[in-house]
Amino acid sequence: MADTHGNESAKEPSKPGASFDLSSEEFRRLGHGVIDIMADIMDAERNDPVFPENSGSATRARFDLPLPTHGRTFDESLHQCNELLSGGLRRNGHPRFFAYVGASADPIGMFADAMCSALNQNVTAWRSAPAATEMERLVLRWLDEIVGFGGDGHGLLTSGGSAANAAGVSAALASAAQRNGGATSISRDRMTLYTSREGHLSLAKAARCAGLRDDHVRSIGVDDVRRMNVDELTATLRHDVDAGLHPACVCASAGTANTGAIDPLNDIASVCKRFNVWLHIDGAYGAPAAMTEEFAWMSRGFASANSLSLDPHKWLFAPLDVGCIIFRDAEITRRAFALSASYVTVRQTDEIESFAFFDHGVDLSRRFRALKVWMILTTRGTRAIADIIQRNIGLRKSLDKRIEGEPRLESLGSQLSICCFRFVPTGWTDADRINRINEQLIDQIVTEGHIFMSPTTLDGRFSLRVCIVNFRTQESDIDFLVNEVLRVGNGLANA
Ligand SMILES: Cc1ncc(COP(=O)(O)O)c(C=O)c1O
Repeated sequence: MADTHGNESAKEPSKPGASFDLSSEEFRRLGHGVIDIMADIMDAERNDPVFPENSGSATRARFDLPLPTHGRTFDESLHQCNELLSGGLRRNGHPRFFAYVGASADPIGMFADAMCSALNQNVTAWRSAPAATEMERLVLRWLDEIVGFGGDGHGLLTSGGSAANAAGVSAALASAAQRNGGATSISRDRMTLYTSREGHLSLAKAARCAGLRDDHVRSIGVDDVRRMNVDELTATLRHDVDAGLHPACVCASAGTANTGAIDPLNDIASVCKRFNVWLHIDGAYGAPAAMTEEFAWMSRGFASANSLSLDPHKWLFAPLDVGCIIFRDAEITRRAFALSASYVTVRQTDEIESFAFFDHGVDLSRRFRALKVWMILTTRGTRAIADIIQRNIGLRKSLDKRIEGEPRLESLGSQLSICCFRFVPTGWTDADRINRINEQLIDQIVTEGHIFMSPTTLDGRFSLRVCIVNFRTQESDIDFLVNEVLRVGNGLANA
């Protein structure tokens, strides 16, 4: 085919890799192939081993590939991608994936994620993405309402709980710096932050990134169920104030990652009020439990907080990644984050149209994360989600009962949807020996590939830790887990 200059150069591309702008027919054809692969992934998520047999060197060797200078067909790339990944995937949505706070991902959210990429909205500000901005603001209002924060839905969707905690802590420090109506600017090296020793590591990390000294992050002790000790918090605040320091932020937890402990939120809120300190609640894992009747009481604590983190990619089952921070006061977050530059000047004066997310957080370019949360909430409805959360908590209670009925299993604490326990062979009393057999037990179970657990250590006791945030997990999976722990444990004890 000749081009407008009569040259013979403008030929049909010989390979699809040479043409970026696919026709809608070609897009459809390739997309159907991807959907087929995604359907296979869903089957594998249910049926494959939860953790594959592999090794670091074998996996690394598969990825020792030259830089491709020439393209090829998408089908060829897909084929190779499948080969490269298979054998190296932990199935986080498997019904017996019990590690960390790893949730199963709602397929509805997967479709929304694909649409998000197709739409490719850059949700920096209203003028960049009017509909996406309003959808995010709506989703923030819904999340606020779901957990009973009682605010106006000021906040941001983030990459996850760590980023949400970082935003909460930054806002708290900005607020503290402006205390006394802005008349006195308090220096960050005199500020202090408080969290329980069970608080998530992202809180101390957030403090460090925001310029606080590591030795000004107070690690408050916990009670026998690992909730923050409020008397110790009060005494530490008093001590710091008397020493001329400036308490800037108390970070309470609504469901710790370690054991699911929920700090005494109302008591902590009263202390924060007394000392005029910002209360941030890390509900990255546990906040959605406020949707259930059993844990609705947490909302009272949330309603007293200045900021709250909650992760749709955990107990709201959105695919990674989407976290959320909600603030009581939009102006304070603006104070923490707003900076101007000529190339992002807002020319609109209308209140709605002049809104910019980048005034309230670190990111300028932002993905349209609200789409998947909106799609999940709209398609599923809050009742169905609350039912699954309650079912997950019920499964943890079933596990508690099984442990109670087995003389060789010992519970080390059980809250929300997390249960910590260990195997203790009859007659064994040596603490190191019991720790060692539980270490071997978890290694063997994970290697066998039918169950995935992550351990923790509680008061020196190595513990098997089960966290259930999964719409696929059933009673039969709990039975399987207990039977396997007993089988492997007995085998090791008798070896
Ligand atoms: C209580 C709590 N806070 C914060 C985080 C960090 O969240 P992310 O991994 O999304 O950064 C987690 C993660 O499990 C968590 O459980």
